[in-house]
Amino acid sequence: MKAKSVLTGLKIAVVGAGNMGHALVRGLVEKSVYAQSISVYDPDKKKLDALRKVCPIKIAKSNRVCVSLADVVILAVKPQILQEVITDIATAAGKDVLVISIAAGVPIAKIEQYFKKPLSLVRVMPNMPALVGSGMSAFSLGKHATQKHCKITEAILDSFGESAQVPERALDLVTAVSGSGPAYFFLFAEKMIEAAYELGMKAELAKKLVYQTALGSAKVMMQTQEDPEDLVAKVASKGGTTEAALGVFQKKGLGRLVHEAVKAAQKRSIELRK
Ligand SMILES: NC(=O)c1ccc[n+]([C@@H]2O[C@H](COP(=O)([O-])OP(=O)(O)OC[C@H]3O[C@@H](n4cnc5c(N)ncnc54)[C@H](OP(=O)(O)O)[C@@H]3O)[C@@H](O)[C@H]2O)c1
Repeated sequence: MKAKSVLTGLKIAVVGAGNMGHALVRGLVEKSVYAQSISVYDPDKKKLDALRKVCPIKIAKSNRVCVSLADVVILAVKPQILQEVITDIATAAGKDVLVISIAAGVPIAKIEQYFKKPLSLVRVMPNMPALVGSGMSAFSLGKHATQKHCKITEAILDSFGESAQVPERALDLVTAVSGSGPAYFFLFAEKMIEAAYELGMKAELAKKLVYQTALGSAKVMMQTQEDPEDLVAKVASKGGTTEAALGVFQKKGLGRLVHEAVKAAQKRSIELRK
């Protein structure tokens, strides 16, 4: 029995069952809604079968059938085909439907244009750890979306992680921080594993040490909510090993490098939007 929530009784259509669509549906079914309230369409039958194996959702015969009875439509297709998909479903979607788009870089105004009618719209920037129920999603409301739509969106996004509402103009920076962010942490892990290997450690052990250290460090940040600077100070004792490593990071300008990388991602997000 699912706890009663703003999602109770809502029919949810998910268009696209790729990485994000799959993660989203699983999160919803595990945490918030009955599988039978969710209808999914994807042209790739294998992806639908894989999803059906883990949760007994309804499989629609087409995108139009998928959205026709839905209260909420989640668009989880690649940005390049978003216009084509919307053109197909626009007349099948009900007039009171809430549309949630997770397509990276496609502005609310463009999505409204594609639908050719005013509608309640929310744009979301999720991130890849949604796959394991630890996503970070930021969202912006379109001009016809209400507080009720905001609550529904939060309940959906919180099924596979955390969420935060932001003005749409902030989404490029959100993309550069939490959207692309997982890759920065993965890269750092890769470089630590490489360094350990080059210094003589077996790759398998290096991977175990680095992965568990990443998990432990993330948990400490989440559980203590202390500033990273203070946490760094708790690991680094005066004249010790950590301080020696931190000195190299500082001398080589890690802070500047990270700043430049985030700025480059933000710039690219703005370019793609145009
Ligand atoms: N992955 C991330 O980390 C991430 C982060 C933030 C935002 N996003 C956004 O999330 C969206 C989905 O990304 P993803 O990584 O899940 O991509 P994906 O794995 O490629 O999933 C998209 C799915 O849509 C299917 N599809 C193609 N044409 C369709 C149609 N006409 N109707 C319904 N489904 C159709 C694709 O099938 P085929 O493979 O057969 O074409 C695929 O299964 C994108 O807009 C992306 O910008 C992703």
